[in-house]
Amino acid sequence: MYRQVISCFLVLTMAACKQEQKEASNPMDKEALYQEKYRPQFHFTPSEKWMNDPNGLVYNDGWYHLFYQYYPDDIVWGPMHWGHAMSKDLVHWEHKPIALYPDEHGLIFSGSAVVDKNNTTGFGKNGETPLVAIFTYHSMEGEKEGRADYQTQGIAYSLDNGVTWTKYEGNPVIPNKGLKDFRDPKVFWHEPSSSWVLTMVAGDHAQFYSSKNLKDWSYMSDFGKTQGAHGGVWECPDLFPLPVEETGEEKWVLLISINPGAPNGGSGTQYFVGEFDGTTFTSNQQEPKWLDYGTDNYAGVTYNNVPNQDRIFIGWMSNWDYARNTPTEKWRSAMTVPRKLVLHQVEGEYALANYPIASVGELTSDTLLPSTEVPVATSDTLYVQGLHQSEIRLKTASKQMKLLFKNDKNEVLEVQVANDTLGVDRRLSGQVDFQENFGARIHKAPLFPPKEEQRDFRILMDRSSMELFVDQGLLVFTEQVFPTEPYHTLIIVNEDSQHPILVESIKRMESVW
Ligand code: FRU
Repeated sequence: MYRQVISCFLVLTMAACKQEQKEASNPMDKEALYQEKYRPQFHFTPSEKWMNDPNGLVYNDGWYHLFYQYYPDDIVWGPMHWGHAMSKDLVHWEHKPIALYPDEHGLIFSGSAVVDKNNTTGFGKNGETPLVAIFTYHSMEGEKEGRADYQTQGIAYSLDNGVTWTKYEGNPVIPNKGLKDFRDPKVFWHEPSSSWVLTMVAGDHAQFYSSKNLKDWSYMSDFGKTQGAHGGVWECPDLFPLPVEETGEEKWVLLISINPGAPNGGSGTQYFVGEFDGTTFTSNQQEPKWLDYGTDNYAGVTYNNVPNQDRIFIGWMSNWDYARNTPTEKWRSAMTVPRKLVLHQVEGEYALANYPIASVGELTSDTLLPSTEVPVATSDTLYVQGLHQSEIRLKTASKQMKLLFKNDKNEVLEVQVANDTLGVDRRLSGQVDFQENFGARIHKAPLFPPKEEQRDFRILMDRSSMELFVDQGLLVFTEQVFPTEPYHTLIIVNEDSQHPILVESIKRMESVW
């Protein structure tokens, strides 16, 4: 460091010198910054304080933006801002200044962002392309006064690729006619009608609006009052087209987060598969389908404007049941790894898979354990230094098995396959008593019939989370865990008398910080 400073004085101009000092000091800061207990190493976290939903997911000019619900003054939820980070590959992030602050219309709740390529808003001056954020204003005063119309929708624009923002002086752009829960606008450009289409939630259903300029909106239709799960309020919708992998047929998918009312308690995300004709979304699906059976994937939405048309999803890796109580001190909450959504047809039913994008796979490095087989009706205890930050891949047709992640304190996280049910038991996984719902019960889901003879399992462990993907994301469990010491032992119990378990690989996952 000192040597660099001296050589700067000798040979470099002042500006270049400052730049070099900044870069040289960065790695040291980072090392100190991201080594706290439970700090995820390859999941996005804010450097400090409270975070919830991902917002404004948009790709523009080489950069993926991640805005997020942020309270900069505490590690519990408070007056919401939009925090901001940018990435070239969706796994290595640069923290940016807060993008949107509360103003006279209220706090800044969840929403989306679009690239206004045709400058339909007129916000672009001198040929610039504006980024436009569409979000919910939540008026605390309105709420306190007991009014029902305190959530409205506003917009803001950026002419420097998302770093600084200007609020539109005509806000709010969608007023509220008296609906208490009226929020979370997600907007996309609908080519056939040359219009912007906005999906938002209104209590127990979704509403669709259209606009030519992102400022003047007209109501088109609604969906869902009598379909799907209704155990709680609907939140954070997302509507997009997706081809069916097996047939190429184009369907429309509507994601709806719901809190409470998820299959394993608290918050979760359901989806509907149907048609959208530019005005109305219809689906003949009556029962909910769930994106994730773990309890820690909420308020997830997808990126706008991704170059190759991939549908990339990021969710908030927590649950309103206990989000405010998890045992971290400096920051609270992480995002899921970015996942690609793929629509399948399984036994005549549509099924939405979500699976880590390729750049997550590129974070694997050293092999921690060579491939090994667990024969029928046996168990194997594998000591794996680094298990707590790893990728595990298995292949098996075993119908009866357990995977136990353990540490020296005998804390154990258990994944169980019992015939057609998959379970995750974190009741004894470490710190669980910070909130009664966290370790209350085993989380369960029905297993799909295997796509091939053997199922594949891919597990991502990142210090305080486990993401389990079965058959390329046809069944997913995202779960937070807080072991008081890192897990380093994997016990594989194969109770099946016919099918062995192949442990293909266990690899270290690199830190992205
Ligand atoms: C979902 C949610 C949204 C809202 C935001 C407030 O987690 O409740 O509906 O906009 O969080 O932070």
